[in-house]
Amino acid sequence: MHQSTMIFRQLFEKTSSTYTYLLADSDGHEGILIDPVIETLERDLKLLDELDINLKYILDTHVHADHITSSSLLKDKTGAQIVIGSATKVECADILLSDAEELSFGKLKIKAIATPGHTNGCTSYLCEGLLFSGDTLLIRGNGRTDFQEGSSETLFSSVREKLFTLPDSTLVFPGHNYEGLLMSTIGEEKEHNPRLGTKKTFEEFKSIMENLNLAEPKKIEIAVPANLKCGRN
Ligand SMILES: [Fe+2]
Repeated sequence: MHQSTMIFRQLFEKTSSTYTYLLADSDGHEGILIDPVIETLERDLKLLDELDINLKYILDTHVHADHITSSSLLKDKTGAQIVIGSATKVECADILLSDAEELSFGKLKIKAIATPGHTNGCTSYLCEGLLFSGDTLLIRGNGRTDFQEGSSETLFSSVREKLFTLPDSTLVFPGHNYEGLLMSTIGEEKEHNPRLGTKKTFEEFKSIMENLNLAEPKKIEIAVPANLKCGRN
């Protein structure tokens, strides 16, 4: 564990209730951002500057439908490389990560875990016992599976067979929360997640997902095409 040398910040974008995460090695000052949002570009650049962090990678957990990534603008300002899961086939990315591939920043490593289901290209990232689960596993919930190649069956296996096999103490940092919750753990979600907890069967999960009756995300027509171009218009 290099936790003593890790800089970690959880940041919030309020119009889409998105969490952005900053991780850096305090020794070499190399860092990464996960899921940065265009609305909060200036805030994030200021924080990188104040903490003296050289941004090495900008990672997105998936092609978002509810907000536009600031990855291209951050790349222009910092020279960092854009990273996303290989199954997204996003052409503007510098690095397409497949399952189990790792990236280093300073002495720290972050590993991709392919967790399709909310979208085909959804990727969770694991770094030093912290799991960044995007919209695959949310706190007491999960991302919807009714558009963008969503599949309740695939999401169920991603969570139960991949994320729930991590140690119970793994901290879970999701892509969103709408109730003010910041983090969870794998053990807590196995026990208390009302859809995906280990007592639920796939049939129960599927019927929950089929009966959510959710509205289309407001920004989907704008956000998805923009995110396929790394947020460049
Ligand atoms: Fe999403």
